[in-house]
Amino acid sequence: VETAMARPSSLGFTSIAVSTDDTVRVPEGYVARPFYRWGDAVGLKGNLPEFKTDGSNTTDEQAAQAGMHHDGMAWFSLPLGGDDPHHGLLAMNHEYIDNGLLFKDGVANWNLDKVRKGQNAMGISVIEVKKQGDSWTVVRPSEFARRITVNTPMKLTGPAKNHALMKTDADPQGETVLGTMQNCANGHTPWGTYLTCEENWSDIFVKKAAPNALEKRYGISDSDESYRWSEADARFSVDATPNEPNRFGWVVEIDPYNPQSTPRKHTALGRFKHEGAAITLAADNRVVAYMGDDQKFEYIYKFVSANQYDASQRDAAMDLLSEGTLYVAKFNEDGSGSWLPLVYGQNGLDASNGFASQGELLIKTRLAADVVGATKMDRPEWIAVDPHAAGSVYCTLTNNSDRGKEGKAPVDAANPRANNVYGHIMHWTEENSDPAATAFKWDILVMGGKPDSADEKAKGSMKGAEFGSPDGLSFDHRGVLWIQTDVSSSTINKKAYEGMGNNQMLATVPGTNEYRRFLTGPRGCEITGIAFTPDNRTLFINIQHPGEPGDDISDPANPTAVSTWPDGDKNSRPRSSTVVIVKADGGIIGS
Ligand code: FEO
Ligand code: CA
Ligand code: CA
Ligand code: CA
Repeated sequence: VETAMARPSSLGFTSIAVSTDDTVRVPEGYVARPFYRWGDAVGLKGNLPEFKTDGSNTTDEQAAQAGMHHDGMAWFSLPLGGDDPHHGLLAMNHEYIDNGLLFKDGVANWNLDKVRKGQNAMGISVIEVKKQGDSWTVVRPSEFARRITVNTPMKLTGPAKNHALMKTDADPQGETVLGTMQNCANGHTPWGTYLTCEENWSDIFVKKAAPNALEKRYGISDSDESYRWSEADARFSVDATPNEPNRFGWVVEIDPYNPQSTPRKHTALGRFKHEGAAITLAADNRVVAYMGDDQKFEYIYKFVSANQYDASQRDAAMDLLSEGTLYVAKFNEDGSGSWLPLVYGQNGLDASNGFASQGELLIKTRLAADVVGATKMDRPEWIAVDPHAAGSVYCTLTNNSDRGKEGKAPVDAANPRANNVYGHIMHWTEENSDPAATAFKWDILVMGGKPDSADEKAKGSMKGAEFGSPDGLSFDHRGVLWIQTDVSSSTINKKAYEGMGNNQMLATVPGTNEYRRFLTGPRGCEITGIAFTPDNRTLFINIQHPGEPGDDISDPANPTAVSTWPDGDKNSRPRSSTVVIVKADGGIIGS
């Protein structure tokens, strides 16, 4: 249930300074508290393991605890269909793992049990949360508490289900996949389900033999030092299990209200390195999903369902993402744009280009988008739809240091900066304000960077707080736009980002070009995940990878990487965590 509140003409808080401190800072009058950290019990009945600060929790304990590296997140009021702002569920992603932090002895004595612990530290958490008096708590135990991991069975839907390229020895019908992984950003539907999006899944697969064209296009390589699952679990060795990678790179729908429900991978929404899935309704109530493919020179996509949403028919709504049309965006130099359909048999998408069916086309979505001539973008991350302006959509393009380099795509009107280290935020308005339209007009909301810089290439176009590498992006219920940054830990407060401090969260009212800094994170982290309660009086965000890079949290030679957040204990480990933020006077966030 989306609540409509009036859009304010300006922001009510004072912008805070940049920070290099190892803490979360928010404006005066606000309180921010770590709330659900890696290793905290998720809340399963009779299974509430305590976090061990030395990394010695077992594989089974990890399956009952928060995973690592919290990312996208959504709020669901309890009960289903209501809008209680004080009691609900949070569904959130655990994007990836860090073997150096996960185990007492790091990667020594590598074996299948270590792989399984890593698989249990990735995936999704569903937690029940409640505000009692002034204080938010995680309800433990809870009948809703759930961990979904890299081994949770899920069903395939849509045109690629049962396709030959989806079949494995373990799943000869090509319809049941074990798990989801590299879950980055997210979406949520009007019928109360959570969408989790598989991003850098190709990092985990290893193929020693030469890759085929499809594997190459998605970046499967012959080595992996970070995860090392392929060494002990043949599912992640492409030489052993050739079709397993085709079963990742999808958007997964989860019903958080039913912990027994089977998650579903919707192949109709295409296969790429999915950042998120921003959902809205077309003028005729068909469901529209906007999706970015986060890699340099990749595309922006849109899915339009075949059937219409009827709020009184939740069971029918569960099938809406199984059937529809996938489009990819072309941004023209004159500010117009079009959505190009990725439909088998149209625009050269047939056997002459290697597609024998719609199912095959979807498994090879990137190759199909190449054929129709979509616009190569500067790493599309989150997309947000303005709740106060139908068909008005924003997308963060986080950065692209290769733009304009020799042998790479040149600058164009939509990606206008060579060596785009600061990124920008795009905006487009669909024709007739209808999200199902196939034409749109676009402009650039803001260029990241430093507005006071004498260097034209470094100039940001914002007034107020400067920033770069925008990633998380979401409107609150009032129509304020919130932006989270993910400056790579190798450049936080260094190089082009010198003086810009730790990663941060900002707010703007569209149309004002005024930006205020609302939050700064601890050292080494990115800020991600945005969930407001329906009354806009509580905000949940996630702090991901505090202390990156480096496993030595006390290395004095690398002070900007040192983090003991959130526990403040040199003997513990930095822990990704959800943070709950309220105004001390109980007021509306941002007012
Ligand atoms: Fe997982 Fe593109 O960020
Ligand atoms: Ca991201
Ligand atoms: Ca990012
Ligand atoms: Ca990340």
